[in-house]
Amino acid sequence: MLATKQLTVSALKRSSLTATAVAARSVQPRATFATAAPDPSPNRTYGNLSDEDRIFTNLYGKHDFRLAGALKRGDWYKTKEIILKGHDWIINEMKTSGLRGRGGAGFPSGLKWSFMNKPGGPDGRPRYLVVNADEGEPGTCKDREIMRHDPHKLIEGCLVAGRAMSANAAYIYIRGEFYNEASNLQEAINEAYKAGLIGKNACGSGYDFDVYVHRGAGAYICGEETALIESIEGKQGKPRLKPPFPADVGLFGCPTTVANVETVAVAPTILRRGGSWFAGLGRARNSGTKLFCISGHVNKPCTVEEEMSIPLRDLIDKHCGGVRGGWDNLLGIIPGGSSVPVLPKKICEEVLMDFDSLRDAQSGLGTAAVIVMDKSTDMVQAISRLSAFYKHESCGQCTPCREGTGWLANMMARFETGNAKKAEIDMIEELSRQIEGHTICALGDAAAWPVQGLIRHFRPEIEKKIDEFHARRRLEEPVAAQA
Ligand SMILES: Cc1cc2nc3c(=O)[nH]c(=O)nc-3n(C[C@H](O)[C@H](O)[C@H](O)COP(=O)(O)O)c2cc1C
Ligand code: SF4
Repeated sequence: MLATKQLTVSALKRSSLTATAVAARSVQPRATFATAAPDPSPNRTYGNLSDEDRIFTNLYGKHDFRLAGALKRGDWYKTKEIILKGHDWIINEMKTSGLRGRGGAGFPSGLKWSFMNKPGGPDGRPRYLVVNADEGEPGTCKDREIMRHDPHKLIEGCLVAGRAMSANAAYIYIRGEFYNEASNLQEAINEAYKAGLIGKNACGSGYDFDVYVHRGAGAYICGEETALIESIEGKQGKPRLKPPFPADVGLFGCPTTVANVETVAVAPTILRRGGSWFAGLGRARNSGTKLFCISGHVNKPCTVEEEMSIPLRDLIDKHCGGVRGGWDNLLGIIPGGSSVPVLPKKICEEVLMDFDSLRDAQSGLGTAAVIVMDKSTDMVQAISRLSAFYKHESCGQCTPCREGTGWLANMMARFETGNAKKAEIDMIEELSRQIEGHTICALGDAAAWPVQGLIRHFRPEIEKKIDEFHARRRLEEPVAAQA
């Protein structure tokens, strides 16, 4: 689950600031990170989401996840009316809301969903909504909370998003390890069928809509949308070349849109409260509420719903009891899941948790999985572990990724011990650039970016390890020679 190419690769390239430029920016007031349109109220601060603006009111599973509990929380309220308003109305509201996909790429959802309604009308093929519940990105644990504690939000979301796309059915592709989540979800789907909320004449609207759960087998690459489609079709999860895009030829050769669990689950509330309510939260182009999952060296790791654009430091201080040992003990943070570049403390102090601010800081919001590392962390070792992960998860179809992820992992393993030459730091950087943007899917970029972030901000740590290794060698050599 990571930033796909359309937005982030080009965005990172466009905003390729030098390290000095980033450092210079980081001492400016917070607003300077913004590439969003000028903020109409520059003094406004973000965060402190009020309870009445909260979408996920059972995130921690304190209440009943079943239909009775969901109805009490306001789910399935006036769903029939929403469906009867038709796809144009739903798409327009989604566009007004400014919602950007929560699966990592941040592509505008209303626009993406509109690709399913081609001029000229339906061509006779069925259409599908596929919900991406693979949640494979290391550090990410938000979609599972929706599915095990608030599954009706997702099912209602499937119905309204499906209506927006004139889809006949939704397939929810859930990662295999999520046994309890799949079981709660299936129970909620059964209830929804029984109550006439989905299935034939869903909610009494005259619209027929089915929802199926498909369990995956735990491969990270199956989170990539076209690999996911292949996997549902019973094939190996290997990404497809695009075009054709899924909206033209997707699942079973039919028009399909793949959307993340959170993206779909927020849709009913947006449609009930109005797109402009959602757009009023967070900065322009970065609107809404967002689930953040914070792990690592904080006092209280958690998943929390907050306003988009909350400063990273506030997020950690308010919801996680701060960094272990205090803010000054912070070394660096990966702000959006393992695929995005790590940021050093200085930038973490200023950056806002939204798409544009993190892009300007040469990282990304990704899945909003915030991985905090304090000074006890060996940063070279941490990034090396990620390189090993991407090597293992590469599907092997394209040469730059198949070979390149192996080279990255092998070189990073040597950097970990210091058994390398300093010239190899530039070499690995160059290697990562040869992978980035040269592959079928964004896994290649995901492998390249953590290494690039490490070199950009923690180069001295790699050099120190190399110096120490060679100093040890020099001391050991005479001893070895005498023996
Ligand atoms: C290797 C790889 C893994 C991915 N894993 C996930 C995932 O687990 N969940 C997810 O929603 N998106 C994942 N994505 C992104 C999807 O391809 C797709 O962009 C996303 O599901 C679209 O949903 P959205 O428009 O709601 O963001 C992954 C992408 C790549 C390249
Ligand atoms: S980039 Fe890697 S994971 Fe993606 S298709 Fe190519 S080889 Fe497979």
